[in-house]
Amino acid sequence: MKLPSVKNVQLKGKKVLLRVDFNVPIKRGKITDDFRIKRTLPTINLLKKEGAKIILMSHLTSGRAKSLRPVAKFLSASWQIDFISEVLGPKVEGRISRMKNGDILLLGNLRSNDGEEKNSPVFAREMAKLGDIYVNDAFSVSHRKHASIVSLPKYLHSYTGLLFAEELKNLRSAFNPKRPFLLILGGVKFGSKLGVLKKFIKTADKIFIGGALANNFFKAQGLNIGKSVFDGGISVRKYFKSPKIILPIDVKTKNTSILDCGPNTVKLISGIISKSKFILWNGPLGDFEKAGFEKGTWKVAKLIAGSRAKTIIGGGDTIAAVREINNGKLLEKFSFVSTGGGAMLEFLAKGTLPGIEVLIRKPSDNGNK
Ligand code: 3PG
Repeated sequence: MKLPSVKNVQLKGKKVLLRVDFNVPIKRGKITDDFRIKRTLPTINLLKKEGAKIILMSHLTSGRAKSLRPVAKFLSASWQIDFISEVLGPKVEGRISRMKNGDILLLGNLRSNDGEEKNSPVFAREMAKLGDIYVNDAFSVSHRKHASIVSLPKYLHSYTGLLFAEELKNLRSAFNPKRPFLLILGGVKFGSKLGVLKKFIKTADKIFIGGALANNFFKAQGLNIGKSVFDGGISVRKYFKSPKIILPIDVKTKNTSILDCGPNTVKLISGIISKSKFILWNGPLGDFEKAGFEKGTWKVAKLIAGSRAKTIIGGGDTIAAVREINNGKLLEKFSFVSTGGGAMLEFLAKGTLPGIEVLIRKPSDNGNK
């Protein structure tokens, strides 16, 4: 299914509501990971070049620093940026009315308004009045049924941004992969990954389960996992017998907690990686934030990056772990690095997301301001 792209739109002089995901970690007013912001720059560049009036909208997860001001400061290294901490109201309308073609305005944190997470149609309609068209370049939050993702596009002609389209193209390639196809799943939250396992147990050639996810398998096999983390609400029994599933054959522990896979496991994965033509990876293979337990994840990351396979990786923790290697340069060696965490997993499991479904609607369904 082809979605309407911003590339095919007359943009000059148009007020474009560009939904981006600038939900980045901010410590003491400084952005500590700019990966997602940088990936949005091509769409902003395109809109600027075409003479649109660019109104950037993002959320910041509550609990994190709630102001997007540091993001405005970050962007001001590339362009002149206007920032307003509100999302709606006369001040916002005034600033928009004074915008010239090519100007950029960053609105305040969308989640500072209750209507965003409650998916309020009133909030969505009010937001829609601020612009002429809507562009979604926030793939990584498109699994949320929030107003700026699923309701706002109902009131304006709506399009995908360049990053959104790139995410779809690359993640969709996992539905028709070259073979052998290796899926590597790690991390902690099995609940969010079970859908991916369920889906790819049919199509992948091998599935390596690492990180705390493997503890679920060990426990179900009756092994003593000591104080290791595992997801209590998940049953993995039906995957036991599958010859596709590969588990760590040795582990590293501390105080009876399994914290990393061991060298023989890395050797085992290395052999499979070298034969694979398509590798999809989400979730670290150990507790990489604890010194001494990052090695399994790092070694496997390097093997994947150096392989001849098409390699797709994603997930906040996975990227954070890989970023530690070679000053982040290893990230450039993968065929595609998704900006999505939960959105990547849900898209892989279901083949769609709420934020995609709303864009599939026929253009005649949209645009009713
Ligand atoms: C993310 O960081 O995964 C997205 O921005 C979504 O954020 P959320 O989990 O707070 O909805």
